[in-house]
Amino acid sequence: MANISVEAIHLTKHYGAYNAVDDVSFSGSQGEIIGLLGPNGAGKTTTIRLLTTVLGPTSGEFSIAGHQSTAATEIRRCIGVLPESSGYPSHQTGGEYLRFYARLYGLSRRQARSLSVELLAAVGLEQWGRSRISIYSRGMRQRLGIARALVNDPSVVFLDEPTLGLDPAGQAQVLDIIRTVANARDATVVLSTHLLPEVEQVCSKVVILNQGRVLVSGSVGEVIGRALIEHSAHLRVPLHHVERARQALMQFPGLTINQVEGQPDLLRIAVETPGAASAASPAEAMNAGLTAVTAAGIPVLRFELEGARLSDAFLKMTSEAVA
Ligand SMILES: Nc1ncnc2c1ncn2[C@@H]1O[C@H](COP(=O)(O)OP(=O)(O)OP(=O)(O)O)[C@@H](O)[C@H]1O
Ligand SMILES: [Mg+2]
Repeated sequence: MANISVEAIHLTKHYGAYNAVDDVSFSGSQGEIIGLLGPNGAGKTTTIRLLTTVLGPTSGEFSIAGHQSTAATEIRRCIGVLPESSGYPSHQTGGEYLRFYARLYGLSRRQARSLSVELLAAVGLEQWGRSRISIYSRGMRQRLGIARALVNDPSVVFLDEPTLGLDPAGQAQVLDIIRTVANARDATVVLSTHLLPEVEQVCSKVVILNQGRVLVSGSVGEVIGRALIEHSAHLRVPLHHVERARQALMQFPGLTINQVEGQPDLLRIAVETPGAASAASPAEAMNAGLTAVTAAGIPVLRFELEGARLSDAFLKMTSEAVA
């Protein structure tokens, strides 16, 4: 088990009577990408501001790379931050901007120059170091911001909505960079987003926040598993196997099999009253059915659980919390 490099323990921030962050606890290991997910106002930015020592907590504590929350100076030294809305000096070039920050961290002129070349390349801006930031696209600015966050070779990097406002290609580029930061640099990344597919693609762990509270946290798989809505699935098999597939599935008393209208090669499998009839969990019942189909030698062309996407889990949980 890798070292815990980010840990929030009962972290709380009140603004008057309003709880922007309310008893938030989670942890992440070195090299892990942790997604803070939640709708607008959920408390993502406030959580990041607390963890990066920009704000002081009302109560609770945290540790970053082994430093306790009280050691703000040490924490600041070993973190990199892309804030929610960062302004850029438009008169500077990308290279000047990075060299300026490198110098702030005490590097010599020569070291700053070579670091800026390295970081520009790391974020795909090697051709743009001599261009003014004013002509950069939004995606390029975001990538420059990530490069800046890496100037001090941080062990934990916080990125607040790193792909906000980017087109799909720009998003993919930024997600790639984030993966590299975690893998090649072995940095822990904490990123916030309200884009669910993003979390599914890059994060090993997710913390779903709503109204300042953690609704659920864990691996993406765990979160989805806990939130499975419908306990139903669609199974597609070759048309001439449909009847045999139905027979195989009907051996299991917990499963209800229906034809999908207009799609004769598709069966809908539902688990009846999950967990009530048998000791098996809905997932186990579904697996048993699928195993019986494949054991009968029937080729499975498609099998998809309904409600098994993180977005479904997210919508369900955030709407339940509001209700
Ligand atoms: N300085 C402040 N004073 C009062 N309330 C604040 C302050 N900062 C944040 N809040 C409130 O705390 C809540 C959480 O805000 P926060 O910015 O952390 O949310 P967020 O999850 O980052 O949202 P978004 O997705 O819109 O960026 C919001 O309701 C916000 O209005
Ligand atoms: Mg925010």
